[in-house]
Amino acid sequence: MSNLVEIAKKILLDNRRSGYTLPTNNKLYPAQWNWDSAFISLGYSYFNIDYAIEELETLLEGQWDDGMVPHILFHDEDDTYFPNHTTWSCGKEIPSSGITQPPIAASILSIIVKNNQLNEIQNRKVFNLVCKLKKYHEWFFKNRDKNQSGLISIIHPWESGYDNSPLWDYALSKVTIEKNLSYERRDLEVSNNDERPLNKDYDCYITLLNQFKTVNYNPNKLLNKSMFNIIDIGFNSIFLKANKDLLELLKLFKLDYLDFEEMINKTEDNIFDLYNEKENMFFSFDLKNNVQIKIPSLTNFFILFADLKNNDMNTKIIKNLEEFNIDEKYFFTTIKPDHHSFEEKRYWRGPIWINTNWIIYKSLINKNRSFAQKIKKQTIQLINQNGFHEYYSSKTGLPFGANNFSWSAALYLDFMLGIN
Ligand code: SER
Repeated sequence: MSNLVEIAKKILLDNRRSGYTLPTNNKLYPAQWNWDSAFISLGYSYFNIDYAIEELETLLEGQWDDGMVPHILFHDEDDTYFPNHTTWSCGKEIPSSGITQPPIAASILSIIVKNNQLNEIQNRKVFNLVCKLKKYHEWFFKNRDKNQSGLISIIHPWESGYDNSPLWDYALSKVTIEKNLSYERRDLEVSNNDERPLNKDYDCYITLLNQFKTVNYNPNKLLNKSMFNIIDIGFNSIFLKANKDLLELLKLFKLDYLDFEEMINKTEDNIFDLYNEKENMFFSFDLKNNVQIKIPSLTNFFILFADLKNNDMNTKIIKNLEEFNIDEKYFFTTIKPDHHSFEEKRYWRGPIWINTNWIIYKSLINKNRSFAQKIKKQTIQLINQNGFHEYYSSKTGLPFGANNFSWSAALYLDFMLGIN
């Protein structure tokens, strides 16, 4: 077995704390993140199924009574991160942030269940996870579907997971920054300035956070009050796929699933409203400013992950994806390189991320196998040559951000050991 497979396992184990895993071993992210944990769980499933299940159990222990699963859980009240539990001040038993993140956990759990023979105890645990995920998904439909269209919206860039993507530039330019805003960033103490979001982005992030705090994170008020409210195509595609996977899990465990079937059909119908014929691309929609967000982001292609039952549409979108990184040495950049907002090094404004490559890879397995294999091969090569970093340059392959990055290690394990 390749030495890097062993190194990937070691990274996860080294980053592991009690029942959960940090995204990296430095001080950049000293807590449990929602979608990181899901990817990490998949990694564990290749060598320690109990850790895989426990990772998700710990994440869902932080679920709020109304069903929301926070984007960060601050288990050990570390104060080297900003904004930490005291800034969020949500008043929950497990200190947390007050917003969520892409709900990919159900899709990950479904892969784990398909790939493994679970014993009775593990099965019971997975049953409990499925019940909690059902409540989480219902929370989205109840609290984030403003127009009852089956399309849900996010209220903060951090919810997307791709924090400082150019997708949010226009919407954030409309946010009125709080007067006398004062805070101290901690991320720049452990990472390079030119690889991280700008202060002007943080001004918006913290203004929004402070505003959410004033309504005590009441979901109803948040949706109406947030100065940022977007139907993100990437988020909705992940959610649609997760609902399809959850539906299968609900059936498997003989749980009530009829509402899910109905919601899936509604989302599947209405998501086509986000398609732009001229650009042959799905775009996110800014509800606050009433505009389509015409930025060529890789996350627009997550629509392929949603497995729409429309083969012609899938084929058209794949054709577009084939041209997305035509001149790059490595793919996929988070933003199309010829777009004016593209930056080679800066976080979600251009670099290659292993989780987005993985999502696109998974999307293509049942649609264009040779393209999927090409992505897999190249992503493995990128890691083999440059290690398990947070993100990478599409020009040189050189790594940026944190090292020993957990989801890069976890998804490497899936690429190398997964049954595809
Ligand atoms: N990714 C964020 C950060 O940079 C938070 O979710 O801290």
